[in-house]
Order: sequence, then structure tokens, then C-alpha cells
Amino acid sequence: MLQRIVKPLMLAALLLLSQLTYATEGMWLPQLLSGLNEKEMKGMGMKISASDIYNINKGSLKDAIVSFGGFCTAEVISSQGLILTNHHCGYESIQKHSSLQNNFLQNGFWAKTAAEELRNPGLFVTFIVRIDDVTQAALQDVKPGMNERERQSAIDKRLHEIRQNARKESWQETMVKPFYEGNQYFLFVTETFSDVRLVGAPPSSIGKFGSDTDNWVWPRHTGDFSMFRIYAGKDGRPAPYSQDNVPLSPKYFLPVSLKGVKPNDFTMVLGFPGRTTEYLPSEAVKLTVDALDPAKVGMRDAALEVIDGYMRKDEQIKIQYAAKYASTANAWKKWKGEMLGVKQTRGIGKKEQYEANYRELLNTSPELKVKYSGVLDSLNEMYRRIRPYAQARDYYSELVRNVELFTAGDRLISFLGNVRDKGEGQYETLRQQFLESMQPFYKNYNAQVDHDVSVKLLEIYAKGVPKQYAGAEYAQICAENNNESRMLADKIYGLSALTSLEKLKAFVQQPYNAVVAQMWKDPGTRLIMAMRKGFVDNVSKPVNDLQSSINSLQRTYMQAQMDVMAGKKRFYPDANSTLRVTYGKADGYSPRDAIHYDFYTYLDGVMEKYVPGDYEFDVPAKLIELYKNKDYGRYGVNGKMPVCFIASNHTTGGNSGSPALDANGHLIGLNFDRTWEGTMSDINYDPSICRNIMVDIRYVLFIVDKYAGCTRLIDEMKLVK
Ligand code: ARG
Ligand code: ASP
Repeated sequence: MLQRIVKPLMLAALLLLSQLTYATEGMWLPQLLSGLNEKEMKGMGMKISASDIYNINKGSLKDAIVSFGGFCTAEVISSQGLILTNHHCGYESIQKHSSLQNNFLQNGFWAKTAAEELRNPGLFVTFIVRIDDVTQAALQDVKPGMNERERQSAIDKRLHEIRQNARKESWQETMVKPFYEGNQYFLFVTETFSDVRLVGAPPSSIGKFGSDTDNWVWPRHTGDFSMFRIYAGKDGRPAPYSQDNVPLSPKYFLPVSLKGVKPNDFTMVLGFPGRTTEYLPSEAVKLTVDALDPAKVGMRDAALEVIDGYMRKDEQIKIQYAAKYASTANAWKKWKGEMLGVKQTRGIGKKEQYEANYRELLNTSPELKVKYSGVLDSLNEMYRRIRPYAQARDYYSELVRNVELFTAGDRLISFLGNVRDKGEGQYETLRQQFLESMQPFYKNYNAQVDHDVSVKLLEIYAKGVPKQYAGAEYAQICAENNNESRMLADKIYGLSALTSLEKLKAFVQQPYNAVVAQMWKDPGTRLIMAMRKGFVDNVSKPVNDLQSSINSLQRTYMQAQMDVMAGKKRFYPDANSTLRVTYGKADGYSPRDAIHYDFYTYLDGVMEKYVPGDYEFDVPAKLIELYKNKDYGRYGVNGKMPVCFIASNHTTGGNSGSPALDANGHLIGLNFDRTWEGTMSDINYDPSICRNIMVDIRYVLFIVDKYAGCTRLIDEMKLVK
């Protein structure tokens, strides 16, 4: 009897202990793992060593990971350059190949032979060849007392030299990036391939299943993947697109595991996370969640509501606005989650506690006290000062982003600026280019939708931005329109040249000087110029000055934290779109009292969510049939088909498409999102609730094999059973 009670208790204690002895926070530099992380990773179950992950003398895991187009991650999964990334990362490429007759977004696309693989001009992938610490050389001319501009120019000169002198092959490139807020610099030797062809994608009803409703949410049931192939010249080196190019023979490719993942298994994600800010002072976190996030969310709430209303009524508008809506909604939903998450985890209180700790420790070291006293206070003070300006900046940038007329106006202004700089002799050529570049914009533009968005957003802007920031010209225009945004919008959308490509063409058909003169007469361009002037004069200058002081203080505060907490806390650099390794364990979580989330979803869950004909939750007939027959081949387990799982890997935007690897470095999943309660991980990672979401690799294989019948792709992979 006793035995039966003691044993579970002991187990629970052991589990607790094991959970306390590792930390899943961190996006680590692959070349520094052996010193900083390897022991912990092995303790958590990793079977390979740090030199299997990053090695410059032989093929290692890092040689199978690419930055996909600079905005996502992809990984090589065959000896013939086949790469795997998310459906939402390949979305634009898939869309560009789609037409009403061949709608690959709706129906999916599978190249049955190599000849059917589709080229994607503009798309590229980048491998990391080598990473070197060049901090000393980069900072050698930096002298105390330099201002930010002097400091940067001293560094830039050295960076140029470092890149020039870097050891590399002729077809490789170099890049140097700052880390730890500019306290350290690393050189990257890279290899970029620009012949990247589309190989396969499931229909959106699998690849985007759940769409915006399920976005940022667990439990999830999305098969968010697509496949491409890297082509190289016959010599295996990067080459522009050519029919003679051959599939890349990579230095390394990932074996694909059919074994799946069990609770508490070690997992690791390699990829290119974009941006995090984990070392901000408390005032900066307050600024983000109390002032900036609410301003941006408020603007987008209104814009999305208007657009959604039209999309539901009108098929044409739905096609025109689907991609724009998804991208606006993605960040909007993340900011909402971020505000909520920081509040629920008492993020600001935690920062304040951390700062109290830091101060206490600082005071115990006379030497550090001299060096860093006052830094944190000044930094917090600067964030208090920048607050109203930063909020006005965000209101302005959201207005310009979401009212498309402003986007068009800004592009018109920069075209005219271009003519001014290059000379009027270039007017004709530049005008042609400008009008051509505006064609795709107007193809997806509806002036009625935009009018309604502008009514709402101009109103929010007028309420949210103090008069002295918005400027006199803007106030004048408002006064002329009874301070009513509807009256203003009616006038603009009735009369402005910006509301259609035809009107814009006629507008710029005039001589250059006449166009410039008209800019203050057309009611649309007049408002845009007035608001832009208010922004430049009253907001962007103070923001830039304050930001420059903040950057300098933030850099010192970063170094101060590292010195003061030396030996007590490990520091990883904030994400900056460079290759990182993060590791954790497959694990569910409890977001609130009495609620626990399992770490796995199955095809049964897809069928639970199924709404026939719905644009978010429809399920393709073939998939329903496979489900009914339980026809899962070697990919199912115990009569069920795994779909997605979560783990405590620390990821962010840019990690989409990153491989999830098991203890042996074998591919078990594909990262694509984070859970709702954990979206604040960019500013305040909390291991108890922050989870990344991955699609199970067996679901990917099942769709490729059983759903699409594209077995040639399965055959080129190295499957581990
Ligand atoms: N939230 C994920 C990321 O930030 C996925 C976005 C794509 N999916 C979507 N439904 N919009 O990018
Ligand atoms: N969905 C994100 C991406 O596209 C990943 C994330 O933010 O977790 O990179």
C-alpha cells in the first residue's frame, strides 16, 4: 500500500527535479554550444554531440539548414537538394503559379517529375558555411566618449575591412552582424542559391487548415508544409536559373524519423529566428504592452472588421484581400496574445524584481558600481520620455500601412523624389517604371473597402495622436472638414487621383512640375503630404534622437547585466535573423487553473473541426476517405494518425519552417507557430506556458505519400524506422 503511494510521489519529485535542472529559454549560437550548452543538452537526453551540430571540417546539421528567402527557415531532406518548409512560407510562390484554371492554393500542387518543378524568380536560400567571432577587430577603433554616430562609423570601417579580408571561396558571400546589442560581432560566410523550384504543396484546406481562427492557438491541426528543390550549376555551385542546372548535392541532409515523439523527449529546433527583445528594462515592457500594442491592435481591429465584412459578402474582394488580411491579422493576433500573456504572467513585476536583484548585486561590487551606476535608471527614464512619440509613430505607421491610399501616396512621393534626384530627363523612364510597379497594387485594390477603412482609422488617429504631433497642416485639413473623418474620406475618395490606376496614370501624364504642384491640391495627396510633414517634423526626429540614446544605454545595460550576473545567469543574444539552436522537451501545459493541454493532436481532431464548405475548416474528400478507412500506411500509430505536437523550444517569427529534431538529430517535425498563452515569449519567455507548435513529420509523409501519391519524393529521403 505504502509502496503504491511512495512510488508515484518519488516519481513526481524526480520529475520536478529534472524540470528544475534544465532551462528551455534561449536561442543559442551553434558555434558556441560545446562550451555553453552541450552538457545540459546531453543531460536532457541528446545523443549526438555539439560537433555534430556545427562543424566546419565535415558535414554537420547546420549544413542542412537554410534561410528561406530571408523570412523563413527550410531544411534539406534528401541527397538531391529537396527542402521542406511551411505552406505559409511558400504561400507567395504557390500563389504566383496559381490561376483560376490551375488554382494550386486551392487544390495543391505536386510535380510528378523533376521537369514539372516550377522556378520562382526572386526566391533564394542561404547556407551558413562558417561563423567567426570578430568582436575585437570590429571594436578596435571605438573610443570612450564617442557619440553613437562616431562609434558606428568607426565600426563600419572595420567591418568593411573584415569582410574584405575574410577567407572564403569566390562564390561565397560574407556578412557581419552585431550581437548582445552591439557588444559582440560575428562574421558569417554564406552560400546563396537562387534557383529554387516548387516541388509540392498540399491544398490550403490541409496546409492552412484552421486559417486565422486557429492561428496562434493550440490544439492545432494544420499540415503547414510545402516542398522545394535547390538547383545548382553542374559544378555544384550557386548559379542563376538555367535548364542545365542540376539538383544540389548538399554537404549534409536530415534523416527523417518514423519513430515519433514521446512525452518529455528531448527536441531541438535549428533555424533563423527574426527578432526578440528579452533584455529590455521594465519601462520598455510597459511601453510595449500598455501603449504600443494597444494602439496598433486598435487600428487593426477596425481595419480587419471592415475588410472581413466585405470579404464575406463579395468573392472578388475575398480573392483580392485574402493575403493582405492574413498578414494584417497575424501580427494583430500576436500583439493581443502578447499583452494578455505579459499581464497573466506578471511580466512587468518580474522585470522589476529582476532589476531589484541586479541593483543589489551591482552594489556589492565597487568596480562594477563605478562602471554601471545610473545606467538602468537612465534607460528606464528614456523609455518614459519616448513613450508619447513612439505611440504617435505607431499610430502613423499603422495608418499608412492599413489605409492603402496612403501606401499608394507614399510610393508616388518617392517616385517624384527619385525624379528630383536623378533629373527631369529621367521622368519618362521613371514614370513608366512607377506605373508598372503600381499595377499589382491596383489589381488587389478596392476603393470602397479602403474608403471605409480610412473613415475608421482617421478617426482613431485623430483621437489617439495629440495635435502638436500631427501638425498644423493636418489640423487645417481637419478643420475644413468639420473634424469629421467621414466627410474627409468622402471628399478624398470622390476626388483623389490615387483611387484607381487610370486616374493615377492621367495624373502623372502631366509634366513633372505640374504634378509636383498638384500634390498639394489633390485632396488625397494633400492629406498624405500634410500628415507626413507632421510626422517628420514632430515625431520622427525626436524618436530618432531618443532612440539613439536608448541604443547606447541598452548596449551598456546589456553588458552590465552580463557582468553583474556573471556565473549566475546564462545570456543568449536576442534573435537577429541569424542561425540559432534552441532545445526543449515535448510537453503539454496548463494555461489556467484546471485546464491542461495534451502535447499531441490527431486526424480525429481535424474531423472534429470539419465544417463542409467553410473557408477555414473544410476538409478535402480524399483525406476524409483515408480517415474513414484508417488508411495511414506506415505513418499511423495504433490506428491513429498524428498531426501536430508541441514542445518547450524557444522560437519566434522566422523560425517557421525550422526542423524539429530528436535526440539523434533526426527530423521529427516542422515548426510553424506558437501557442496563444506563450506569444509574449519575444519579451518575456516563461517556460511553464511557452510552447512551439510543429507538424508531425509522419503527417507530412502521409500527405505526400497516401494523399498525393507523390512517392518519388518519399523514395529520395532517408527514412529511419
Ligand atoms: N502565426 C504563425 C506565424 O507567425 C503562422 C502564420 C501563418 N498562418 C496564418 N493563418 N496566417 O507566422
Ligand atoms: N509563425 C511564425 C513564423 O512564420 C513562427 C512564430 O512566430 O512562432 O516564423
